[in-house]
Amino acid sequence: MPLRRRLLALVALVLALCLVAGGALTYWQGLRKIELEMSSAIEVADSAVGDAMSTIGASPDAAAYLHRIITSFDGDRHVVARLMAPDGKVVDASRLRRPVDPAPTWLYKLLSGPVHSRRFELPTELKHHGVVTIEADPHSEIGEVWEDLKLKVLIISGFCAVVLALIYAILGWALRPLEALSAALARVGEGDYTAHVDEAGPEDLNLIYRAFNRMAAQLKTAEQQNQRLNEQLSTVQEEERAEIARDLHDEIGPFLFAADVDAQSIPLLLSRDAGDDVVSRSKAIRQSVQHMQLHLRSILSRLRPAMLIDQGLTHAVEQLVAFWHARRPQIAFKTDIEDARFPANIEEAAFRILQEGMSNAVRHGNPSTIELSARRTEGGTLRVVISDDGSGISATSTRGFGLVGMKERVAALGGRLSVNGQVAEKGVILIAEIPLPIAAHDQTKHASAA
Ligand SMILES: Nc1ncnc2c1ncn2[C@@H]1O[C@H](COP(=O)(O)OP(=O)(O)OP(=O)(O)O)[C@@H](O)[C@H]1O
Ligand SMILES: [Mg+2]
Repeated sequence: MPLRRRLLALVALVLALCLVAGGALTYWQGLRKIELEMSSAIEVADSAVGDAMSTIGASPDAAAYLHRIITSFDGDRHVVARLMAPDGKVVDASRLRRPVDPAPTWLYKLLSGPVHSRRFELPTELKHHGVVTIEADPHSEIGEVWEDLKLKVLIISGFCAVVLALIYAILGWALRPLEALSAALARVGEGDYTAHVDEAGPEDLNLIYRAFNRMAAQLKTAEQQNQRLNEQLSTVQEEERAEIARDLHDEIGPFLFAADVDAQSIPLLLSRDAGDDVVSRSKAIRQSVQHMQLHLRSILSRLRPAMLIDQGLTHAVEQLVAFWHARRPQIAFKTDIEDARFPANIEEAAFRILQEGMSNAVRHGNPSTIELSARRTEGGTLRVVISDDGSGISATSTRGFGLVGMKERVAALGGRLSVNGQVAEKGVILIAEIPLPIAAHDQTKHASAA
């Protein structure tokens, strides 16, 4: 059930309970009022009839006297007087004033309390006239309560209707900003991160809107980054594939061809009985195969760096340097990699940083020297440094994913990365400090103590 309807139902329930409580109170008050009225009416009538009856003996016409007593109650609202014959029949009765708007029977049954009546015996010589009775009749009083009740119900119902209508309108007005928020959330749920909520409302809701807008903006940025990363990834993959295809073509192709030519020539040489030539050709084939094995391993290690790192960071960096040295022989590479094992995730992070740092230096800096180092520090970190003497990072350089990726990688391991390039006169110095687990740190202390 929507919040608005739920709150409305709650208020309606509270009002209904108030109405019931009010009804119960009115009923109790009505009962008391009727009881009081009836008893006082019967008391007044009792004394009036009693007085009249005390002088009936002196009356010359008792029947007329009795009729006057009875008719003196004509038009009374509460008391009816009757003259009952000795056989119990009503001989004479006063006319009760009936209420204009009589109460319904059910209310009468609910409110009419005990019967209040009195009986007046006549002196012995007048006994043949019967007895005079008076009885309180609550109809008129209950009619009053009924009218009162109707008015109260009308007023309270009107009040409840007005209150409910007001609450409905106020809730609608108060919840409208939340509807905007819920629509915006639905848009975000469907992947539309441009959703925005106007911060024009009560301060506490504005806090939520602000948080929502910030979240949507961050999601949008993350989505854009993701998109760029994907594009980048596919470009990198394509570049890598092209490079591997070139390597296979340039490095493996000629040797395969040479091995094939050598293999084809062997039967011819055998038919000419040129044994020495056969031996030299078979040696050539073996050289070609060895050459191909070497290149194949280098290609595989690029495809699966984890395999490379399995043999230790020093070995992996050597391979990396060999790879770039083959492509950029004019660059001097200097390495200082600690010959030790670190936790696998730290070794991989260090390798990736060295790989990207080196690739950046070669691609963007045009340096003559690149230095790589990875060493444990006294502070319990693995310090990875890549420095070059190239052009340095220009102020107009575009943001790629390499530096961001490195930062994230280091941050994920609780470390930090600093890039000193913009201010450096020449080249770039990239330093990553990766915290080592306690055990690895202790090893450093022992090593330095020894
Ligand atoms: N060693 C460096 N020498 C000169 N410029 C550098 C060096 N390292 C980074 N830069 C500059 O910083 C920019 C950002 O580097 P980053 O590695 O983040 O991205 P990229 O290399 O351009 O692209 P990507 O790494 O995503 O393929 C580079 O475009 C380059 O201009
Ligand atoms: Mg890069």
